[in-house]
Amino acid sequence: MNEVTFQNVSKTYAGNQVKAVDDLTLSLNAGEIFGFLGPNGAGKTTTIKMLTGILSIDCGQITVFGRDLVRESIAAKRNIGFVTDSGVLFEKMTGREFINFMADIYDVSLEQRRTRSDELIDRFSLREVFDKQIGSYSHGMQQKIAIVGALVHEPGVLVLDEPMVGLDPQSVREFKNIMRAHADKGNVVFFSTHVLDMAEKICDRIGIINKGKLIMSGDLDEIKAAKGDESLEDIFLTVAGTASEV
Ligand SMILES: Nc1ncnc2c1ncn2[C@@H]1O[C@H](COP(=O)(O)OP(=O)(O)OP(=O)(O)O)[C@@H](O)[C@H]1O
Ligand SMILES: [Mg+2]
Repeated sequence: MNEVTFQNVSKTYAGNQVKAVDDLTLSLNAGEIFGFLGPNGAGKTTTIKMLTGILSIDCGQITVFGRDLVRESIAAKRNIGFVTDSGVLFEKMTGREFINFMADIYDVSLEQRRTRSDELIDRFSLREVFDKQIGSYSHGMQQKIAIVGALVHEPGVLVLDEPMVGLDPQSVREFKNIMRAHADKGNVVFFSTHVLDMAEKICDRIGIINKGKLIMSGDLDEIKAAKGDESLEDIFLTVAGTASEV
């Protein structure tokens, strides 16, 4: 089932001539990790900000579990957990306060928030700093507490913008495992990345966007087979390179 749909979605920033996202049509399915790839400035973050309701949509429609993101915004957004690429915003909160804050927003019971966050806190070695202010955390620690906060309401759609930037190898492995486990429970995981090796390893499907236009999407194994088993890096460079010459 298509849990998230983008239908002819476009966005132009004020003062810009060019569309940052241009007529995007895409569906995301239950149980899959979808990697959203594209060069710098391609429109990945803009797409993610529209899906998470941070940016308005100029035209087109986004639905989340059948709910229209504009007309039924709260109901649609209840299903989304988001890890931004710009760090956690609540630097004065402790990790514990942040998790409780996120859990309060999404009406998560005290017991549920404890069981859901306890395991992740230990897996990410955050126990020692859990009662310290997030502003004192390293970048990687901030990324990790952000994903714990994004998962505390068990969202049907987990959205991550460049989640692996600045993470050490153990944390990258934990992030990958968490994303896989979340998708395997029947949820959607949608993330942007430049790290093609990693995308190749963990994505079920990918989409490549360039200059706001989706230029390729589909099952990663099928795409690779159709391209003569080239690496994702080769496919990406060919597709993104060709598109920029048009
Ligand atoms: N706040 C903004 N105001 C005006 N233009 C913007 C703004 N944010 C992004 N853009 C423009 O929109 C286009 C898409 O940017 P976006 O941030 O979505 O790209 P991206 O694919 O996330 O790139 P990156 O890989 O560098 O993160 C770019 O041309 C960018 O200059
Ligand atoms: Mg971006």
